[in-house]
Amino acid sequence: MPVKARVTAVPAADQQPLGSFLRAAGEAGPSVIVIPLRSPDEPGASPAPGAGAAELDSYLPVPAADIIASGELTGRAGEITQTVIRLGTRPCTVMFLGVGDAAPGALRRAGAALARRLPAGRTAVCTAVLAEPDESVQAFVAGLMLGSYQYTLKSTASVETGPGQVQLLLAGRQDAAALVERAAIVAEAVALARDLTNTPSMTKSPAWLADEAARIAAARDLSCRVWTEAELARDQFGGLLGVGSGSVRPPRLIELSYQPAGARRHVVLIGKGITFDSGGLSLKPSDNMKTMKTDMAGGAAVIATMSALAALGAPVQVTGLVAAAENLPSGTALRVGDVIRHYGGRTVEVLNTDAEGRLVLADALAYADAELAPDVMVDLATLTGAARVALGTVMAALYATDDGLAAGLLAAGTASGDRLWRMPLAEDYRAGLDSPVADLANVAGGSGRAGSIDAALFLREFTGGRAWAHLDIAGAARATADDGEITKGATGFGTQLLLHWLTAGAPVTA
Ligand code: BES
Ligand code: MN
Ligand code: ZN
Repeated sequence: MPVKARVTAVPAADQQPLGSFLRAAGEAGPSVIVIPLRSPDEPGASPAPGAGAAELDSYLPVPAADIIASGELTGRAGEITQTVIRLGTRPCTVMFLGVGDAAPGALRRAGAALARRLPAGRTAVCTAVLAEPDESVQAFVAGLMLGSYQYTLKSTASVETGPGQVQLLLAGRQDAAALVERAAIVAEAVALARDLTNTPSMTKSPAWLADEAARIAAARDLSCRVWTEAELARDQFGGLLGVGSGSVRPPRLIELSYQPAGARRHVVLIGKGITFDSGGLSLKPSDNMKTMKTDMAGGAAVIATMSALAALGAPVQVTGLVAAAENLPSGTALRVGDVIRHYGGRTVEVLNTDAEGRLVLADALAYADAELAPDVMVDLATLTGAARVALGTVMAALYATDDGLAAGLLAAGTASGDRLWRMPLAEDYRAGLDSPVADLANVAGGSGRAGSIDAALFLREFTGGRAWAHLDIAGAARATADDGEITKGATGFGTQLLLHWLTAGAPVTA
């Protein structure tokens, strides 16, 4: 199991929330007690402890208030200061955990820091963070679960003694258990996206990805349809077939459907599912291929989002499409200058086989427009190195043909921690995609191009004028180091954003 921390909510007394844990000082109690500390509002003041700190006084060498006022502890989000006390006959670790300003972003960081410090198999109780609106609890749980995510194929990987447990003491909340449970469902979905994305491409063929999607669909109340290569040929998905033609492992189109009773709107999610991107005959330098097993991160976010919709009770109809293919050079690969015919008939001149994502997405967008009657389409794709150059790894590029849709997604991004920055669909660049022989070229000629905008303008041609948003997640989908809830490798970017947006009814207003 990739997520190591298990989180449960425990109803606590308003007064002395630690009381029962301290009294049950025998064998059964927690081995870690966590006291959150808020950073002070005034410079020079002491951080403010969460409930229960004073209950520890008789176990500590000096009163908790003195430790907190010592000047050593700042309350900065993720700062942990620990000491050991004796509870009855056994030692117990007390951790003071900085939660900064206790805003969701700080709580994510604090939760992740605690999860990383918590030894496997140990149980921690954590007292309340002063006030706990829903977003705070959910952010803290997301941090705890995602900060402890790990993907390893090491033969020496230690046999776990069991996951770390964290019991949150939430006073005065009847719905605490349900709240934590919902947060855990979201975190598990993000972990699923990370797992799919971190899986090496030797395992992760398009057919493997489709099998995983079908398995998940069966377990999560979704219907699933998968197009084999023969079926893609029958239905004339020329983009998927062309990109996939260089590999002995053929492409797939995956369709997952979630249809709750009474839904009045239909959202189609589309994910780029390139299971490995070598560039094809327009071959990438080897260094640039090292991360290209993650070129299906958009597809992973779509599958992961779909997996949690029923459990979270999202009120809108959602169809998830993943356009899966492996982009390899070979004697059967697409050539530079080939012209392919997309689903629906539009022709494209392939001037660079490394601009493959837009080719498979064009098929999926055209199919969604023609067959699914969506109110809104949203695609996620690790589409261009240019998006990463522009925005780095902490946020993704958003393009949208509808201002309300853009506003809804931007707000969901800020609230969920998957941040977006809106970019322009600058008409000036559209003519650069004209081709002398086909309806469109897959890359624009000339220097000084806006690569991420060009790609977005290309995709727009296949949206049939519908409300559509495109998330270029080339930077945000991977991290080079652990940072808060982010772990090195795949981030699962987009999953929390989409779940936040869809469970709120997919709003298309500011
Ligand atoms: N998968 C890549 C984009 C990418 C690059 C994602 C780096 C993550 C990190 C995509 O298929 C690609 O190769 N795009 C080309 C487009 C170019 C040929 C117009 C690129 O960005 O160089
Ligand atoms: Mn490419
Ligand atoms: Zn790619």
